[in-house]
Amino acid sequence: MDDQTIYGENLALMEDLRDEVAASLAELRSKMCEISDFDPIEHCLSRIKSEDSMREKCRRRNLPETCRSALVEIRDSIGFRVVCAFRSDVYLVRDHLASMPGFEVVAEKDYIKNAKENGYRSYHMILRTTDERRPVGCEADGGFFVEVQLRTISMDTWAALEHHMKYKKKAPANERLIVAELKRCADELASTDLSMQALRDLIMEEQGD
Ligand code: GTP
Ligand code: MG
Repeated sequence: MDDQTIYGENLALMEDLRDEVAASLAELRSKMCEISDFDPIEHCLSRIKSEDSMREKCRRRNLPETCRSALVEIRDSIGFRVVCAFRSDVYLVRDHLASMPGFEVVAEKDYIKNAKENGYRSYHMILRTTDERRPVGCEADGGFFVEVQLRTISMDTWAALEHHMKYKKKAPANERLIVAELKRCADELASTDLSMQALRDLIMEEQGD
């Protein structure tokens, strides 16, 4: 069936799920704006992994190009990237997502507290539906997965540049220097994030007086 997408009959359900998570984040934003005048989210992107990248990921992982691989073995068919101004907001959004009805957290990686060796920082969560919604054709395997990457603006800037450079460079002679410099930039940005957080806490404290 060449005209069938790898997601089979599930695409419409996946779009609904994506919209539901987006709506829940929008709700959190308006609630926070109302009570504290601070929007915890600077911007938020979501995507359903394209047919081509999903098939490419299946091949890279030596998985058959099937709906089950795309929705059960691979867990980022639905993906969100939430970018916050401040570090504390990342954890506020994390807690909101973790308590969202109809979803459970099945995996979390705190690359903010434990940065990757290259300097990459972000908070990663994998959510799964707990209600009756299950991928058609693989109901026995459980719910739909949603991957969420949460980061500050500086972490996002760094990740975008690093991603860009990873694809540009073809094993240059000065690779070690580049890797070390990237790591240094990531650490400097992380230290600036901490200073910005301290400033923000100070402002909030004064407002609370
Ligand atoms: P996949 O990469 O999706 O196969 O999963 P994984 O098990 O390696 O998960 P991990 O949570 O480490 O990474 C998931 C996603 O985070 C990646 O697909 C990237 O979008 C992002 N990411 C992880 N590490 C890096 C990094 O070093 N640099 C950048 N720019 N992005 C990263
Ligand atoms: Mg991914």
